[in-house]
Amino acid sequence: MSTQHNQFDRRDSALLKEQRGEASYTARKRDTLLSFQLTYWYLKMPVVRALSKVAKKALLAPVCGCQVSAVAVRHVSFSPRQVTSASDASFHSVSFSETDHPKVLITGGLGQLGVGLAKLLRKRFGKNNVILSDIRKPPTHVFHSGPFIYSDILDYKNLREIVVNNRITWLVHYSALLSAVGEANVPLARAVNITGLHNILDIAAEHGLRLFVPSTIGAFGPTSPRNPTPDLCVQRPRTIYGVSKVHAELMGEYYHHRYGLDFRCLRYPGIISADSQPGGGTTDYAVQIFHDAVKTGKFECNLKPDTRLPMMYIDDCLRATLEVMEAPVETLSMRTYNINAMSFTPDELAQEVQKQLPDLQVTYNIDPVRQAIADSWPMNFDDSNARNDWSWKHDYDLPELVQTMLNFIGSDSQVAQAS
Ligand SMILES: NC(=O)c1ccc[n+]([C@@H]2O[C@H](COP(=O)([O-])OP(=O)(O)OC[C@H]3O[C@@H](n4cnc5c(N)ncnc54)[C@H](O)[C@@H]3O)[C@@H](O)[C@H]2O)c1
Repeated sequence: MSTQHNQFDRRDSALLKEQRGEASYTARKRDTLLSFQLTYWYLKMPVVRALSKVAKKALLAPVCGCQVSAVAVRHVSFSPRQVTSASDASFHSVSFSETDHPKVLITGGLGQLGVGLAKLLRKRFGKNNVILSDIRKPPTHVFHSGPFIYSDILDYKNLREIVVNNRITWLVHYSALLSAVGEANVPLARAVNITGLHNILDIAAEHGLRLFVPSTIGAFGPTSPRNPTPDLCVQRPRTIYGVSKVHAELMGEYYHHRYGLDFRCLRYPGIISADSQPGGGTTDYAVQIFHDAVKTGKFECNLKPDTRLPMMYIDDCLRATLEVMEAPVETLSMRTYNINAMSFTPDELAQEVQKQLPDLQVTYNIDPVRQAIADSWPMNFDDSNARNDWSWKHDYDLPELVQTMLNFIGSDSQVAQAS
């Protein structure tokens, strides 16, 4: 067991846990206040005061952690097997032997991607081995499709209880505020995307979980090479969403090197799905066009016709997530990978849709916030490392994507009309 890890055991983890009660309480309180739409400046001062109180307490605590509460002490240690060196491959199957199925928790599971991922994972690992969680009320069909639990990622103790009581071994962390929504509420995005991530990292390290956190094309900025964007390059995003995702990549990799956390991360392109609604991202137009084309024959696009962005059909995205989670550790030369499938502009997408629906009329009404974000993002993603290391390969290019989306939405709207 390395000295570094012992140090975390005895001191850092104890202090983190001690802080956690207050930090998550502060975040939860702030979250509630935010939902009442109080202004940032009204919130800022109490939050800063509360956080500096926490930090001060942590700094004043002795190295032995003897000021830590009894409850916290019971949970401070990483188990010996968890603290073996990151280079020790046996660490990565601490909680999940090849003969067992993993027990998976998905946070933020009611968004665009979570329900589909739960379906895929349940098919593979069994219905009861995959728990969806969110802070929203699940629709009836989701509630009856398998285990669902309330979980606010800002509530550290509740998260820990769920992980312990359900013997979770894999955590897929989907909760986030996406790019456009994040810009509209920076304090909330900061709380959910950054404070929430800290809770997730500590829980995962403490309980030896394999942790998946998605990143995004939004983790790059205007100074990154844009065509194509490689895995390793300058990352100076200009949105709180992008900043929080770079933070997640770096913190996950740091916990991997420092504490042996089995952190795995894919940078998703814009994801296109037919049966789930996008959550307020810059690439949402590429989903909306299909619904409007089928329902009204008209589509107003909020990005310029020549805005090129990397995109992927949801089935490819979810399969990539499962594949990277199952990849043997020795195949992973990195912990954060770009993945890609296709890259197109609104004009190219509209033309492909018009091959099937020639009467579709497309107009443009540019949203300056989304356009500025899109103009700072990659136009093409270089995902050669994922292809080489763990054999990533996409199935859907633009024509298959369009055909699949129209089939799905077309049949869905026929059912709706008939009922
Ligand atoms: N959809 C995409 O195109 C895309 C692209 C790149 C990366 N990603 C990433 O994939 C993940 C999932 O994306 P999505 O499109 O499903 O997002 P989404 O916005 O549709 O869903 C996010 C979910 O998080 C939940 N949430 C918000 N605050 C929470 C909290 N405090 N505690 C628990 N849950 C909370 C929301 O209720 C929501 O259901 C995100 O991390 C996102 O950044 C998505």
